[in-house]
Amino acid sequence: MRQVITSYILPILLLLAVQTHSHNVTLLLANHPSLSSFNHFLTQTHLAEEINQRNTITVCAVDNGAMYDLTSKGYTISTLKNILSLHVLLDYFDAQKLHKLPDGSALTTTLFQATGAAPENTGFVKITNMRGGNVRFDSGDISSSYVKSIEAVPYDISIIQISSLLLLDTASAPTPAPTEKSFTEIMSAHG
Ligand SMILES: *[C@@H]1O[C@H](CO)[C@@H](O)[C@H](O)[C@H]1NC(C)=O
Repeated sequence: MRQVITSYILPILLLLAVQTHSHNVTLLLANHPSLSSFNHFLTQTHLAEEINQRNTITVCAVDNGAMYDLTSKGYTISTLKNILSLHVLLDYFDAQKLHKLPDGSALTTTLFQATGAAPENTGFVKITNMRGGNVRFDSGDISSSYVKSIEAVPYDISIIQISSLLLLDTASAPTPAPTEKSFTEIMSAHG
């Protein structure tokens, strides 16, 4: 009986324990009212589900004021999804790691690049340690800076706040991905 437990039941229990430990970005952000708009749009764009399925990631959130600048432009949900997916870095950066980058900088890929929606190589973010302990985030022409750590589950998910969005301009806003065009067409067909 003991052998049965160790060889069959224990691994299953461990697997369940690991699975129930997966993060919920919506819940993690719910403790931070100043980021409620960002959280709302992670849900609206279904990015929250994609974030919850991944680990070793960093979510760069912006406050409600910065989100208003974006959401007041009348973008479609699929454009908002592309823009916000640039703010999901596919590596784990907490405060400590951000301030001690090897060689003072790091180039990281994002969910925007990974989903294939990014034109050319626009789906990368460069992180740079600046003088005075500031950390800068660059995406093409736009830069933003590190504000503070919001939540961190070591090596699983880090949520940080940055000063402004990394992509905001209509001109630089990406076109919807091929798979999302049909979604837009369906939406417009239904008025
Ligand atoms: C995450 O939390 C939100 C808010 O409580 C909930 O609606 C959602 O179902 C949760 N997602 C998962 C995968 O548990």
